[in-house]
Amino acid sequence: MGVETEILRADGTGVARAAALLRAGSCVAFPTETVYGLGARADDPTAVAGIFEAKARPAFNPLIVHVVSLEAAAAIAQFPPEAERLAAAFWPGPLTLVLPLGADAGIAEAVTADKPTLALRVPENALARQLLQEVGLPIAAPSANPSGRVSPTTAAHVIEGLSGRIAAVLDGGPCAVGLESTIVGIADTPKLLRPGGLPTEAIEACLGQPLAMRSSGGSITAPGQLASHYAPRATLRLNAKTARPGEVFLGFGPGDFDENLSQAGDLPEAAARLFAMLRALDENGAEAIAVSPIPDHGLGRAINDRLRRAAAPRP
Ligand code: TXA
Ligand code: MG
Repeated sequence: MGVETEILRADGTGVARAAALLRAGSCVAFPTETVYGLGARADDPTAVAGIFEAKARPAFNPLIVHVVSLEAAAAIAQFPPEAERLAAAFWPGPLTLVLPLGADAGIAEAVTADKPTLALRVPENALARQLLQEVGLPIAAPSANPSGRVSPTTAAHVIEGLSGRIAAVLDGGPCAVGLESTIVGIADTPKLLRPGGLPTEAIEACLGQPLAMRSSGGSITAPGQLASHYAPRATLRLNAKTARPGEVFLGFGPGDFDENLSQAGDLPEAAARLFAMLRALDENGAEAIAVSPIPDHGLGRAINDRLRRAAAPRP
């Protein structure tokens, strides 16, 4: 609390103000093609602490660092051959690589939660790129929501969750992809740590081999994988063929629903609308939501992942 959060326009003045605030060590939310991120300079422990405080994020949960280019990424992390290949194919874009932290990377320990690895991504959103270019520093940025809540896909969502807790939000309109990045760990074999905005099929085609899967029940390598996450207030029931009394029926594809993620049955459209839809249903006082089945391929995998977490019992 205590600060009035500035809402900055998507123009040169807005980007310059956001960059100045970030350089000075403040927390600033900004759009990416996936979701809005809450940025702070990754080399400054005090600035990074501000992220954890604003989000009430547990300290064991490390942050993704955002840079403007592969060159900037290579200065702070090591790139095994698979990582080079994926970065060349998919950056800028909705892919995060977890890589061995570079020697003398100068990244604050809280960013990696003291691990020897660094999560890195080069976003594609034009405003994000202008901002990173102008700041000229690696920027740590988790999704710009209070910990455990649904990620924001508009500046208004950011304000709803974090107003008064962060210096500013750069308003770039709605996010094109609408789901967080796909996270791939590059260890012995590339491993899917979180499905997201880049379909796993594309990653596997690029690598010419299947991704290893995170073993369930093992230790949590990406705390975004904690069971209850991305949670709206309403309860969710998945793979529903019909709605029960009192439930709002959220559909996919043609049919008789109260709301629809995509009438046309288009997965990218459904992904882009999912989080805003969950928020709108919350706002309209829905207590129970029944969701019709979503195909489990392409972006459907990430949609189903987020729906399962939204449906999981709350702590
Ligand atoms: O699309 C996105 O990835 C967005 C935008 C803002 O870039 N960011 C995002 O950040 O979703 P966040 O903090 O909400 O999710 C990052 C996930 C967390 O689950 C975290 O545990 C995991 O990345 N992570 C970060 N560093 C890691 C590391 N070194 N090893 C394993 N997982 C890591
Ligand atoms: Mg998040």
